[in-house]
Amino acid sequence: DLEVGVAVAGGGHHLEMPYPDPFPNDVVYRSHLAREFSSLTPENHLKWEFVHPEQGTYNLAPAEAIVEFAEANGQVVRGHTLLWHSQNPLWLEEGDFTPDELRGILREHILTVVGHFAGRIQQWDVANEIFTGEGEFREENIWIRNLGPGIIADAFRWAHEADPDALLFFNDYSVESINAKSTAYYELAQQLLDEGVPVDGFGAQGHLGIQWGFPGDLQANLERFDALGLETAITEVDVRMVLDDTGRPTPAQLARQADDYRRTLQACLNVEGCRSYTIWGWSDRYSWVPVFFPDQGAATVTFEDFSRKPAYYALHRTL
Ligand code: XIL
Repeated sequence: DLEVGVAVAGGGHHLEMPYPDPFPNDVVYRSHLAREFSSLTPENHLKWEFVHPEQGTYNLAPAEAIVEFAEANGQVVRGHTLLWHSQNPLWLEEGDFTPDELRGILREHILTVVGHFAGRIQQWDVANEIFTGEGEFREENIWIRNLGPGIIADAFRWAHEADPDALLFFNDYSVESINAKSTAYYELAQQLLDEGVPVDGFGAQGHLGIQWGFPGDLQANLERFDALGLETAITEVDVRMVLDDTGRPTPAQLARQADDYRRTLQACLNVEGCRSYTIWGWSDRYSWVPVFFPDQGAATVTFEDFSRKPAYYALHRTL
């Protein structure tokens, strides 16, 4: 009963796509998504800049197409994301709003987007990347900066109001280990649960690189959230690597990568409340990694021609 998911490629930072949105057109890609996975996460289609491009104007059709595809294939969906510092539209980031107006904008957005998909999205990443590596609230976050951290509880309450069945998550990167950032989540989650705020889960993204070594205490970290009564999820696994001039990974690199994928999945399998494991892209053909991290790549489980890497087989053997 573990959902095994993938991010559905498309969109991109500030809507610049390094490749055409493959989901509507690439039939081979679509058939692989349908066959290999039981959960889908729109990679960008539910982010503010994509779904709410002008104030009060919603572009729900691309995400709707993904949700319908998931329903047709018996898959669940993870919604990503509602309160974040990144990929917000300019009208929001550069607008001149009072705190009351901003609060109203966030409330309307959450009620509209979560409400539109009510009953059809299993898990929502309500709050994404709200802490720095030191465990402080991020100043870049427009909501926290202008409204204070109390807005986080409101976001969870509004999401719950819009869809009482959805499981509501925190989500971040570099929280695989027990460290200052993951501990900030642990303490905030505990506080919100004590206050009766509808928080259901904690997601560790799992953007790893073979050059850094594996976060060996991942399972122990998930277990402490489990002990709070929260669900856990691994939400965005990819394992990147520095590539040489050929641009192709070596067999040794691929073996290291396979091991890191396997260990993320094994950690989730070992924790009772970890029922959702998602990789951030099916193929190197459509991966954000080389776009964001020059000289790095090959982070997914299939090559550009969709042929399978050792990481693909490692996940299969572990399941
Ligand atoms: C990335 C997408 O993969 C890119 O297409 C986009 O341009 C930028 O965002 N953490 C997250 C994801 O929560 O939303 C990010 O996705 C990767 C890091």
